[in-house]
Amino acid sequence: MLPPLRLPLSPKDLWLSAWIDGPDEPEILERAFAAHFGFPYGVLFPYARVALYALITTFGWRQQKILCPAYTCAVVPLAITCSGNMVQFVDCAPDHFLPGVAQWADRLTPDTKLMIVTPLYGYPVDKNSEVLARTIAPNIFVLYDEAQSLGASDSNGFQARDADGALLSLGPGKMLSALSGGLLLLRDETVFRKVRALRDAQYTTSTFRHVTRRLASGFIRWLALREPVFSSLLYAERLIPVLSPEHISTRELMETKFPTDVLVLPSSYEIRIALRQLNRLDRLTTARRTVAAYYDHRLQEEGFITFSHSATPTFTRYPLAVSDRTKTIRLFAKEKIQLGWFIRYSCEQAAVTNVTSSLCPNALLWARSMINLPNFQGVSIVDAERCVELLLRLRDEREKAAAWPATVS
Ligand SMILES: Cc1ncc(COP(=O)(O)O)c(C=O)c1O
Repeated sequence: MLPPLRLPLSPKDLWLSAWIDGPDEPEILERAFAAHFGFPYGVLFPYARVALYALITTFGWRQQKILCPAYTCAVVPLAITCSGNMVQFVDCAPDHFLPGVAQWADRLTPDTKLMIVTPLYGYPVDKNSEVLARTIAPNIFVLYDEAQSLGASDSNGFQARDADGALLSLGPGKMLSALSGGLLLLRDETVFRKVRALRDAQYTTSTFRHVTRRLASGFIRWLALREPVFSSLLYAERLIPVLSPEHISTRELMETKFPTDVLVLPSSYEIRIALRQLNRLDRLTTARRTVAAYYDHRLQEEGFITFSHSATPTFTRYPLAVSDRTKTIRLFAKEKIQLGWFIRYSCEQAAVTNVTSSLCPNALLWARSMINLPNFQGVSIVDAERCVELLLRLRDEREKAAAWPATVS
């Protein structure tokens, strides 16, 4: 069975990083990541979500307006709510999972403190939203959330080139996993000094027990995406529903607190892993882009609608929308391809947000219809063509199931 993703971190990497000498100080990691993504400063945290939380608390904001896409990971609004501020969700565009300028314009007001721009899957955002935000709210802090889109770029370079900050994640399942870690990249020296002082005062170093636990969970994740374990788990999901992706995303939506190890910084071992991973980023991105370019070309050639992009995305996943996701996933599973379906929810559904009536219908539309075709390193063009053939078969058998979902009225 072809899994929906594979970690770019193998037991060999874990072993080598444990024994091979290399830089392992947080400052070296912070400088390397900041330099790579074009920022002068970086601060390491245990998770990206707490890096966001620390940024907000550094500013001392309470009950302030923070704009966040509705179609993002639920831990982002969780961090905002935990900081004592108000999340205002920005809907997706009706024809794209990214918010357009119109959706940002709907929410921006002169007192907006922070906008979280999220080039999901590495799809370039429309930077006019940022220009508009700085016009409407001159003191706004523009933060790019690149946890799922490291290095999103357009024809002028990195998209976060004018941003005040960027958020990266090194957690499990991310493009550059180092077992744990989140980074906040910053442009302003005063903000950097304050955030770092807060981090140094509140966060603790890892103990042997923390590292062992993360290492074991990293190894289990790696194993879970390999055969025969992957197929056995899929079978087990049918018997034990708590293992199913639906159950996992429901749990994510129900979270009202940070994880228990939220104040424990990555160990020097994880820092070594992260630095090795950073050296691979360009290679990983090239592999994903090659397969994604093939999907784009073949699907468009066959008359499918694909998500538009103004420049080549980094394609942390290859997203496609279908009218009947359950049928699509079932057909692929019969042919031994397990599709991803990230993100399966709109953050308006998250427990912390207390939203009673949705203001973001487009986010719900994509949450219901999104699938991810496999494009991780190791997926071949032959695998990609099998996926296209299955979509064609689905369209022949049930035209409506494979169609682009009807837009919300
Ligand atoms: C878009 C996005 N932003 C932020 C985060 C938070 O990252 P972390 O798990 O390091 O807190 C995630 C996590 O999956 C994410 O998908």
